[in-house]
Amino acid sequence: MPKLLPFAIGALAVALILSGYLGYQWRTTFTALESTKAELASTTSASQIALKNAAQDNAQLAEALAEQKRVNDEFGGKIADISGTVGKLDKLAKTDPELLQKYSKVYFLNENYIPESLIKIPEEWSYGAQEEYFHGKIWPELLDMLKDAKEDGVDLEIISGYRSFGKQAQLKASYKVIYGAGANAFSADQGYSEHQLGTAVDFTTPALGQNFTAIDTTEAYAWLTDHAHRYGFILSYPKGNTYYQYEPWHWRYVGRDLAEDLDDDGKYFYDLDQRKIDEYLISFYD
Ligand code: DAL
Ligand code: ZN
Repeated sequence: MPKLLPFAIGALAVALILSGYLGYQWRTTFTALESTKAELASTTSASQIALKNAAQDNAQLAEALAEQKRVNDEFGGKIADISGTVGKLDKLAKTDPELLQKYSKVYFLNENYIPESLIKIPEEWSYGAQEEYFHGKIWPELLDMLKDAKEDGVDLEIISGYRSFGKQAQLKASYKVIYGAGANAFSADQGYSEHQLGTAVDFTTPALGQNFTAIDTTEAYAWLTDHAHRYGFILSYPKGNTYYQYEPWHWRYVGRDLAEDLDDDGKYFYDLDQRKIDEYLISFYD
């Protein structure tokens, strides 16, 4: 037994040293682990802060972008409005305002006024051998109407189209010789005739010829009453108007918009205020 003592002491010493070493190692590892954990925790929290900041930055950027888009849209809208207005002004500037004035004893066209363009009405559509003229820019509308009427079996001919200031003066003078002041009931003084605009016509039919004042007894008049507004034409002097006698042969172009609205409302051109009529100048050629 005593022989074993040194050995036992040695073993105990080794065990103590070993356990001390292991304890040290364990503490070192544990400390390192704790420090790594702390580092990790601090890194994670820094990342979270960075992420949060990035998210905030993103939100701010998105807001700024949305605001910029709103400003752009608003600006784009303003540009569209402005170009729309410019387009309208341009259209208005190109439309002769005389074309929608009330000429019957109300408004005056001077002796120098002639329509911006005139065309000779082809013989097929004018009465007899007379040369008649019409407003060049509106002739296509009149021609459409004449052709469609023909397709419906209605033959319309123009017995009087554009009349210059001078021609109207001569005509009125000749009526005055025959009818005296009575001529004022059916013939405008020079400067007051819708015919000087080039947009008014007197219709007859091959059967009526010179007897065009009886046109309201014909199918042609019934057709015009039903259809003319679709082509922009209106009857200027219906029964009971305050300007002239009833003139079922005299039709004037006022634009499709206005003619349709007058027809819908059962009104005549001269029933409207000039201010209301002027609103239609923009759509005169539509
Ligand atoms: N017959 C119409 C009123 C004119 O002379 O213009
Ligand atoms: Zn007439």
